Amino acid sequence: MTVMGTGYVGLVTGASLARLGHEVVCVDVNKDKIRLLKSGGMPIWEPGLEDIIRDAELEGLLDYSIDAAAAVSCSDAVFVTIGTPSSESGEADLSALWSAIYAITPMLPDDGLLIIKSTVPAGTCEQIEAYLRKRLPLSSRIAVAHNPEFLRQGSAVRDFLVPDRMIFGAANPETHNRLEEIYAPIQSPKIKCGLREAELIKCASNAFLAMKISYANMMSDLCDALGVSVDAVAEGIGLDRRIGSEFLRAGAGYGGSCFPKDLRALMALAEREHLDMELLKATEAINRRRVQVIRKKLESVFGGTLNGKHFTIYGLAFKPNTDDTRESPALKIYSMLQEAGGRITAYDPVVTCLPNLQIDLATDMYEAAAESDCVVIVTDWDQFRDLDWGRLRQLMRSPYILDARNMLDTAVMAANCERYGLHYMSLGRPSVTPDVPLTIG
Ligand code: UGA
Repeated sequence: MTVMGTGYVGLVTGASLARLGHEVVCVDVNKDKIRLLKSGGMPIWEPGLEDIIRDAELEGLLDYSIDAAAAVSCSDAVFVTIGTPSSESGEADLSALWSAIYAITPMLPDDGLLIIKSTVPAGTCEQIEAYLRKRLPLSSRIAVAHNPEFLRQGSAVRDFLVPDRMIFGAANPETHNRLEEIYAPIQSPKIKCGLREAELIKCASNAFLAMKISYANMMSDLCDALGVSVDAVAEGIGLDRRIGSEFLRAGAGYGGSCFPKDLRALMALAEREHLDMELLKATEAINRRRVQVIRKKLESVFGGTLNGKHFTIYGLAFKPNTDDTRESPALKIYSMLQEAGGRITAYDPVVTCLPNLQIDLATDMYEAAAESDCVVIVTDWDQFRDLDWGRLRQLMRSPYILDARNMLDTAVMAANCERYGLHYMSLGRPSVTPDVPLTIG
């Protein structure tokens, strides 16, 4: 098998297919990445990935190459996992994907299978199939399939090998069966459907999850206004099996390379069909507003202005267990604080440099809080659960903690506030202030 593209999806796909017993070559146009992989390095930080990569390499089942032609021409199946970022209009930018298709078409074996894993707008795989029919001899029996991926960064290997469901999009039952054979060892419901249906399932799933998060955030604002806890509300509604409790965690909002982009792509696709996706527009607007909700909360304790205050941002990655900062809420909060005249120091356990941004990055989480007026937790890394609150308070100038992921237990924090004179805030949950007077810098 050939896997085109060595991003998150590509590398996890390549290593996992090797885990299933297939012989895999991962191909990328980026020579440095291939050199790094060949020399035993890892271009991304993903728990568990390095282990399965090393196992597969030892078994001789996984290799890397920049030579797409050589890899593709002797493959039974070619997986395309090339990124489809947002273009300026919001539509998915398919240029890199098409370049790869153009490049490999002449090398595709006659009875090969081209499996598109990249997230693409409905209709793309049919266009690819039509292009191949035009370019390849009539004798070619090449088939196109769409097999979207639902892995999450941070738990990608498990999500790939133990999925909730697999989607096999194809134009005919033979192609469905070939996908079934490739994934035979994986036990999960396997949905066989058309190409366009498969394409839509991927975007619609991400949009639905984003909508759930925005719903929780909308409720969180109401809970704040009423002085009640969004935790209880989310638990209460989530236990209804028709709703489900996952992705109902209120906080700083969603980020990453998938939800924001897929929402935009779905809205752009619908617009072409003269449809207005009101629910998705609201989902996006609520997410965008999270940073203002955080600003207001901070202003409420600093007498209406953040000017001159020192903030510590805990977490830069868009979520824990990844080094990815794409569309990370932390960066938006960073900009907001900067614009408001604040001074900011940031700390993240794995994001240790951001080449294009002038960010004051500390290498130690306590050092980052020195002389700080407020620690703002933006990524729910486990490290932030067990902080030494006494030590932190001693280092800080003022006693404010804003948990923008609602990751800490309010009862536990109430005890810490009482003990160390901290003031703990979160989103959609009552704040905790100690009985003792606060010492503010
Ligand atoms: C998402 C989907 O969950 C995957 O199924 C999909 O395969 C992937 O996109 C993709 O399209 O490739 P991912 O972007 O890795 O995965 O991250 P998630 O775990 O879904 O989290 C996305 C964002 O939502 C994060 O910023 C996270 O902090 C936030 N989030 C998540 C919340 O704010 N509240 C929640 O309850 C859950």
